[in-house]
Amino acid sequence: MSQQHTAAPATDSATATVAGHRRDWWREAVIYQVYPRSFADSNGDGMGDLEGVRSRLPYLRDLGVDAVWLSPFYASPQADAGYDVADYRAVDPMFGTLLDADALIREAHGLGLRIIVDLVPNHSSDQHEWFKRALAEGPGSPLRERYHFRPGKGAAGELPPNDWESIFGGPAWTRVTEPDGTPGEWYLHLFAPEQPDLNWEHPAVGDEFRSILRFWLDMGVDGFRIDVAHGLVKAEGLPDLGSGEQLKLLGNDVMPFFDQDGVHAIYRQWRTILDEYANKMGPEGPSSEGRWWETGGRIFVAEAWTPTVERTANYVRPDELHQAFNFQYLSTAWDATELRTVIDGTLEAMRPVGAPATWVLSNHDVTRHATRFANPAGLGTQIRTAGDRELGLRRARAATLLMLALPGSAYLYQGEELGLPDVVDLPDEVRQDPAYFRGEGQDGFRDGCRVPIPWTRTGSSYGFGDGGSWLPQPASWGELSVEAQTGTAGSTLELYRAALAARRDQPDLGAGDTLEWLRAPEGVLAFRRGEFVCVANTTGESVTTPAYGRVLLASGEVAETGGEAKVPADTTVWWTAAV
Ligand code: NOJ
Repeated sequence: MSQQHTAAPATDSATATVAGHRRDWWREAVIYQVYPRSFADSNGDGMGDLEGVRSRLPYLRDLGVDAVWLSPFYASPQADAGYDVADYRAVDPMFGTLLDADALIREAHGLGLRIIVDLVPNHSSDQHEWFKRALAEGPGSPLRERYHFRPGKGAAGELPPNDWESIFGGPAWTRVTEPDGTPGEWYLHLFAPEQPDLNWEHPAVGDEFRSILRFWLDMGVDGFRIDVAHGLVKAEGLPDLGSGEQLKLLGNDVMPFFDQDGVHAIYRQWRTILDEYANKMGPEGPSSEGRWWETGGRIFVAEAWTPTVERTANYVRPDELHQAFNFQYLSTAWDATELRTVIDGTLEAMRPVGAPATWVLSNHDVTRHATRFANPAGLGTQIRTAGDRELGLRRARAATLLMLALPGSAYLYQGEELGLPDVVDLPDEVRQDPAYFRGEGQDGFRDGCRVPIPWTRTGSSYGFGDGGSWLPQPASWGELSVEAQTGTAGSTLELYRAALAARRDQPDLGAGDTLEWLRAPEGVLAFRRGEFVCVANTTGESVTTPAYGRVLLASGEVAETGGEAKVPADTTVWWTAAV
C-alpha cells in the first residue's frame, strides 16, 4: 500500500511562525541600512569593514531593528563606493573576506537579525573580467554583446551613439581605445564611465545573475536590495531623447533607459528562485534544527525611481519583488498636506498588488533628513547648506515618529538614530563621490551623508576605528555619539530605541494597510490605528488637540490638561487608549 504524505501546512500559511519568527516578517519590518565603509572599522585602516559590522550587531539588536541591509562590500575598484562590482562573489579585501561575511550572517541570525545584501545588476565595474576581455578582444568580441557597445556617429565615429546623459553628469557614452591603439567603439554607462551597463537582452547576463543570487542565498542571506532595479532594460534601438533637458525630466517621465516594461520579466524569474528557497519550511526542513532564518521569508527590495507610486507598485506585484523603496515619501517636504497626499497615495497604490507600503527618510544617496528639514522646502534631496540645525533635528525626530507609526515597513539609515546632520562643508580634496567630479550631475554631494558615525565621545574617530576615518568627522560629533546619547533622557538615540520598542509592543502597529484620519487643525496630521493615535504637528506653532489616552512617546514635551494636549511646534505624539 502506498504511503500517504500530508503536505506541511506551514508552507502555505503566510503567518506561520517558527520559534516566533513570522514568514512574512518583512511586511512590517524595520530595516536598518549599514553603509559598510562608514559604520565601524576593525583594523584601523580608516575604512569600515565587515568585522566592524559584526562587532556592532548587538547594538543593532538592542536598537530594535529586524534586519540589516548592507550596501555593497564586493570586490570593487571603488569608483562609485562599491556600486561598481568587479567580482560579485568575492568580498573586497578592504572589507574583509568571504569568511567574515559568513561570520556576520551567522552571528546576525544568532541575534535574531536578518541580513539583506545589495545586488548591482544594471552595470558592472569596468574591471569586471567580462568587460576587460571585451575591451582586449576588440570589435566583434562576443563579450562586447554583454554590454552596450556601439559605433559612434559622425564621419569618423567621433560622436556618441545617442544623446543620453549619465546620471552623474556628462555623456552616458565613453569611446574606447581599441587594442591597435585607434579610437574605436563607444559603450553605454548610465552612471560613471567605470560602470558599464550590462546588456540584459543577452542570455549570459541573466544566467550569471541567477547564479549570483543562488550563491548569496546559499551563504544564508535573507534578501537582496536591487540597485537601479528600474534600469536593466533599455528601449529597443536605444532611441535619442531628442531633448537637452534630460536631467530635468529624470524622475518625472518614463525614459528610454528607465522603468521599461521589460524589467518585470526578469523579476518574475528571480522571484521563482527566492520562492524555492523560501519554501524550505516543512517537517524535514531545517526548522527542526531551530534555524528560523531558513524557513522562508527571503525578500527582494527594489531601488526603483519611477515617475509615480503607481508605477512603483508594478515592481511589487505578487509574482515579482516584495518591496520597493518609497522615494516619493523621501522627497516630501515636512508639510501636513503633502505628507497626507503621499501617505494616502502610497497605501492606495500598494493595496491592489497586496504589497506592504515602505517608508524611508534617509539613505546614502541623499542629504540626511535632519539637514533637509533644516533648510527651506523645495531644494531637492541634495542640499549644500547646514540650515537651522535645531529646527532640522526637531523636525527630523518628529518625522521619524510619524514614519514609524505608518502601516508597512520602514527603512532607517545608519546614524539617523543619532540625529546626525549632513556634513556640508567637506573640503573638496577629501570628496569621493564620482558625481562631484562630473559637473552638472543630479548627485554630487553624497559624501556628506557618508561620514563615518561616532560611537564614543572621544578617541580616534570617535570610536569608528583606531586609524582615523576616510572622511573627516566634525569636532562636534563626540557629543552626538552612541556613548553620549545612551541613557540620556530625551536623546535622539533613546527616542529611536523607545519608538522601536513601542512599535513591537503595540499589536500590529506596522501591520495592515489602513489608517483612519482624524480631524485636526491645519498643518497637523492625526490618525488612528486601533487603540493607537498618532498626531504630527508640522507647523512652527504649538497646537491644541484632544488628549487621546496615555502618551506612549513624543518627540518633544507635550503638556496635557483637562482632556486636551498642547503639542509643540514640529512635534509628533503617540497615544494609546489602552490602559
Ligand atoms: C544607486 C545607489 O544607491 C548609488 O549609490 C549608486 O551610485 C547608483 N545606484 C549606481 O549604482
